[in-house]
Amino acid sequence: MDTHIPLAFDAGSHSIRFGFCNDRTPSSDIPAVFGDMLNGKESVEHTNRIGENSKYKVDTNTLCVPREGMELINIMDKGLIQDWDAFENLMEYAYSSCLFTDPKFHSIIFTESPMNTDKNREKLMELLFEKFNVPAMMLCKNSAAAAFSCGVQTGIVVDSGATHTTAVPVYEGYVMTGAIVSSPMGGDFILNKCEQYLSENNIDVIPHYLIANKKPVNAREIPIWSRKNTVPNVTNSWHNYMCKSVVEDFKHTVLEVADRDAILSNLPTCHYEFPNGYNQEFGSERFIIPEFLFNTNLSYDLTSLSRIVHLCAEMCHSKIINELYANIIVTGGNSLIKGFPRRLHSEIAGNFRNISRVKLTAPIDSSIRRFGAWIGGALLATTAKLNHLWYSSNDYHENGTNEINHNYHVNKFRLNIHR
Ligand SMILES: Nc1ncnc2c1ncn2[C@@H]1O[C@H](COP(=O)(O)OP(=O)(O)OP(=O)(O)O)[C@@H](O)[C@H]1O
Ligand SMILES: [Mg+2]
Repeated sequence: MDTHIPLAFDAGSHSIRFGFCNDRTPSSDIPAVFGDMLNGKESVEHTNRIGENSKYKVDTNTLCVPREGMELINIMDKGLIQDWDAFENLMEYAYSSCLFTDPKFHSIIFTESPMNTDKNREKLMELLFEKFNVPAMMLCKNSAAAAFSCGVQTGIVVDSGATHTTAVPVYEGYVMTGAIVSSPMGGDFILNKCEQYLSENNIDVIPHYLIANKKPVNAREIPIWSRKNTVPNVTNSWHNYMCKSVVEDFKHTVLEVADRDAILSNLPTCHYEFPNGYNQEFGSERFIIPEFLFNTNLSYDLTSLSRIVHLCAEMCHSKIINELYANIIVTGGNSLIKGFPRRLHSEIAGNFRNISRVKLTAPIDSSIRRFGAWIGGALLATTAKLNHLWYSSNDYHENGTNEINHNYHVNKFRLNIHR
């Protein structure tokens, strides 16, 4: 094993987090989308892929620049890598422009979605050993890593990300994949509800790049702003992404989850100003939107988040159910909506009364909650007891990709490690 610090990568549908394993949180968190300048019209030499003239544009600052014809394309789909060429490009960018190091010096741990496939895993391995010449790699399910970051080895991890929320049972570090329950209600679902609300109330979402200047106006007054007239001919996908980032800011600032029996009209309002200057106080609507996550009367055919936890526990052996309910870990960006963990706790405890004890852990520090899987992965990679789980470049060249699915996966081992 080399003496350089290992790297940890945690790829999600909303963003990709990476950094050195001796850091507290990932040093970089970049959007899981890329700007495609050619939109498949022309292939580009590998050497010319990350410069100013490259086909691919990555990272927030670069993506925010309006460019004629640049299409925005997702790298991930429901937590799985879908565009391998773009992902390879993003890794090149990560090493050369964020981590400033050579991949051949650092072992690397990758967290993966509990739904990852053998084929995807093998592809990642080929990329890391063949293209980046990493000395060794390790894989770990992101839920097991998130549980580990909270010092828990047995429990249910509720990961509310962008594309979905999953309840994943973990037993002694082992993810019980057969009992995972997933709901499509995550950050994107709430974002759609916000867009719907704003459109129904005739509140225009004007992205920053279109605004030349604006004047202060009183709450609910028609905004006074002028449009930039030097904007290049941008694509719809890029324009929509910019609108989405405005709604996302609204969502992060304004929304809050109310208590189970709260009277929404009595709760405090929140003032918010949009980029074009339109502003108002938001009252009960800011509680009603996230209510969909918990209230089955509103979400029709969708299963509430407390119910996915219950369904997940029900599928596990009756002997461990109490232990699972006593160790619920909340992670993922969407759980940062204010009041989310408290409400989830009261829903589980209130709806399923036969449970002896419900204990829910949600790190208060928002970066620790959002980056739980990365933090757990980084801890695992630096745990000497797990040294035997590194799959080395020599192993790969002797045994190929097959071994990783059978012998070297962290999830195949019980992690009897107490922090
Ligand atoms: N402070 C916040 N308040 C509310 N929502 C937030 C906050 N910060 C981030 N989010 C939301 O969290 C989501 C991203 O969460 P996360 O980073 O866990 O997703 P991901 O792992 O990239 O995606 P997925 O798990 O779906 O593959 C986005 O929808 C984002 O808007
Ligand atoms: Mg995620």
